Amino acid sequence: MATISRAAKFAERTARLRASTIREMLKVTQQPDIISFGGGLPAPELFPTAAIAQAARAVMDRYGAAALQYSVTEGIPEMRIWVAERLTRRFGRIFDAESVTIVNGSQQGLDLLGKVFLDPGDHVVMEDPSYLGAIQAFDAYQARYLTVDTDEEGLIPESLERVLDRADPFPKFLYLVPNFANPTGRTLSRARRESVVRICESFDLPIVEDDPYGELRFEGNDLPALITYPTSGAVIYSGTGSKIMAPGMRVAWLVIGDAEIREKIVLAKQGADLHSGTLAQYIFHEYASDGEKFDAHVRRIAQTYARRRDVMADALVEHMPEGVRSTRPSGGMFLWVTVPGVDTTELLVISAQSKVVFVPGVNFYPGRDVHDGMRLNFSNASEKNIGLGVERLGHAIRTYLR
Ligand SMILES: Cc1ncc(COP(=O)(O)O)c(C=O)c1O
Repeated sequence: MATISRAAKFAERTARLRASTIREMLKVTQQPDIISFGGGLPAPELFPTAAIAQAARAVMDRYGAAALQYSVTEGIPEMRIWVAERLTRRFGRIFDAESVTIVNGSQQGLDLLGKVFLDPGDHVVMEDPSYLGAIQAFDAYQARYLTVDTDEEGLIPESLERVLDRADPFPKFLYLVPNFANPTGRTLSRARRESVVRICESFDLPIVEDDPYGELRFEGNDLPALITYPTSGAVIYSGTGSKIMAPGMRVAWLVIGDAEIREKIVLAKQGADLHSGTLAQYIFHEYASDGEKFDAHVRRIAQTYARRRDVMADALVEHMPEGVRSTRPSGGMFLWVTVPGVDTTELLVISAQSKVVFVPGVNFYPGRDVHDGMRLNFSNASEKNIGLGVERLGHAIRTYLR
C-alpha cells in the first residue's frame, strides 16, 4: 500500500502559512554583535521589572488561589473596567466594560476576527503596505486582499471608495492601523478619519481599528480614534499592553460595541483558549491601576523612543545615498525607508554580513509586489547602536549599488 505523505493530510489552509521573515530574523538577532532594526521589540530596559515583581506579590497576597484559577472568557472584571476607563479618559467618550474582551495579545484578537468573519476566498481591505501579522492571521482563513493606496497622511479615502465600488465579492471588513502604523510609521490625518468612517458607513463595511501604538506619541496632539465617531457602522477597536507594559504578559483587548459580534468573538475565544491567563491579567491590573504611575511609565517610554527616532532620522540623513527617502513618524516604533532601484530582500543578505538587519518591505505588501522598501525599528537598539547601525546600512546600500 502506498504511504500517503504527511503533508497530504494537512488542511488546505496550511498551504498559505509561511515562516514569518520577522520571526526568522529574531533568531539571527540573538547573535550579540548584530544590530537589529528588524523585530518590533520594545526596549527591555524600560520594562518595570521590580514593580511587576511587587505587583505579583501583592496579587498573591490579595487574591491567592483565585489568581491561579480558570476565569471567564471575557477577561477578569478588573481588567475590563480598567480598559474601559482608560479609553474613556483618552478618547473623551464613555466606554462600557461590557464592550471589552481581554485577549491573549492583540494578535489573538486578529486571529479571532479572522475566525469569526472569514470564509475561504473572502476579501479583507487593507492599506498597502500593511501589518504583516494581520496578513498572517487572515491568511490562515484563506482570505484574499483588496489593497488601498496610502501616502504621508495614511490611507487615501478616494482609493478606498474606488476599491469598494468595484469589490467582488464585497469585503468582510477594513483593517487599518491609524496611528504610527506598522510598518510605515504614518498616521491617518484627522480629515481622513472622518472620511474613512463615512465611506465604511455608506458601504456598511465593518472597520477593524488596530491601535497598539497610539499612546506612544512623541509630539503633537492625539487624533480621535475611529471608534469615537458616531456611526451606524461597526467599529472594532484593538488595543494592547504589549508596547506600554510588556509583550510577554500577552494582555490585550478588543472593544466591540456590537453585541452580536462580541458574542461570536467570545465563543471563538472559548474554542481557542477558554480565557487569557488569569495571573497575567491580575498582575497587569495591579501595576496599572495606579493611573499616575502608569502614565509616567508610558511617558518615559515615549520620551526614550522619541530620542531614538531622532537619532535614527538624523543618521539616515547623514549616511544614506542620495535618492533614499524615509518617514519621520511622530510616535510608535518604526520608520519606513524607500531605496529606489534596490531590492531590499537582496540588500538584507549584504547588510546582515555588515551586522545590521531590518525587515524587507515586500513582506508587508499583500501582493508582494513592491521591493524597494524597508522597515526599521528604532525602539530596541541603544542610541549609539542606532547611529552605528544606520552607518553600516548606508555602506551596505552603496556596496549593493556598486
Ligand atoms: C499593528 C500591530 N498589531 C498587532 C500587533 C500584535 O501585538 P500583541 O503583542 O498585542 O499581540 C503588533 C505587534 O507588533 C502590531 O504592530
